[in-house]
Amino acid sequence: MQTYNIALIGFGGVNRALAELIQERFSEPTEALGFGLRIVAITDLQLGTWQNDDGIDPAVALAVERGGNFAAFPGGSADVDNERVIKESSADIVVEATFTNPTTGEPAASHVRWALEAGKHVSTTNKGPVALFGPEFRQLADDHGVRFEYEGSVLSGTPSLKLVTQSLRGLNITGFEGILNGTSNFVLGQMAAGLSMADAVREAQELGYAEADPTADLGGSDVALKVQILANDVLGGSLTPADVSVQGIQDLDAAAVSEAVAAGGAIKLIGAATRNADGSIDASVRPVALAGDHALASIQGATNAIAFHTDLLGTVTISGPGAGRIETAYALLADIIAIDDARRLAGGTS
Ligand code: HSE
Repeated sequence: MQTYNIALIGFGGVNRALAELIQERFSEPTEALGFGLRIVAITDLQLGTWQNDDGIDPAVALAVERGGNFAAFPGGSADVDNERVIKESSADIVVEATFTNPTTGEPAASHVRWALEAGKHVSTTNKGPVALFGPEFRQLADDHGVRFEYEGSVLSGTPSLKLVTQSLRGLNITGFEGILNGTSNFVLGQMAAGLSMADAVREAQELGYAEADPTADLGGSDVALKVQILANDVLGGSLTPADVSVQGIQDLDAAAVSEAVAAGGAIKLIGAATRNADGSIDASVRPVALAGDHALASIQGATNAIAFHTDLLGTVTISGPGAGRIETAYALLADIIAIDDARRLAGGTS
């Protein structure tokens, strides 16, 4: 059975969780996956680089455990020329999980671009590169006979993009509506229980849901990028970030939240897109008062959910975590599985 060589760019929580998962379960080929995984290089702006093409080195485990500088480990260096290190490595698949600005897509977009140009498959958790440069990167991947995968950019490891492209193939998806930001859903739930928005946001930050600056969570721009990615993948659109109309919950009146609760429903921050008869797509993010029996009204806490509207199955709804280090690492594994599936389909059998 095949063993894939993996290079990690960024060694924060998500890629560490992937490394741990590989060490604990998937270093040897298993029946479950049909392949094994071997980390051959890691680059991180703070930690430096680590490279060993002979297989998994105990240094990786040590790095996972201690978070120390790679210069201290065999094969390690303070050098952070990640482009050179990754390109010169024997990696088949580059896993990109850096801390990236979602508005510019950098530095992840540059990492994705040169890794694809070097003929490596790429999986990223970052939304920016997909939303801003998705068509370019898909074309680059095609040109080099590799895959560009990004399941973790929406709903972390809860299947959303691949749910549609793999499990709902052949259906006509006419639209979707989702709770795509855990922080805002948590805040709305606490407001429904009587807290002020400021107290609810503080609690979300203490629990680690909200960013230190929760503007993108509350203002809707995080959801807008996810709506755009979903609309393009699931509805066949070619939207840019500017095509999604955005209204967040930052100015929401506590009285409106209480009113929705008194009526037996709930206000939720809904990201939605619909394909019109002429093929155009309407995409939006806005707070919506949902009736109590709506599929998304009962989604509590930081949980995410999406309801896909289909022709043959009616509405198909999936809910689950939308963030978290292990949960997002699972999305990377799902991408690697898709890369292996594509290789098998193309005729590679080992
Ligand atoms: N901060 C986001 C959320 C997760 O609260 O759902 C990453 O998109």
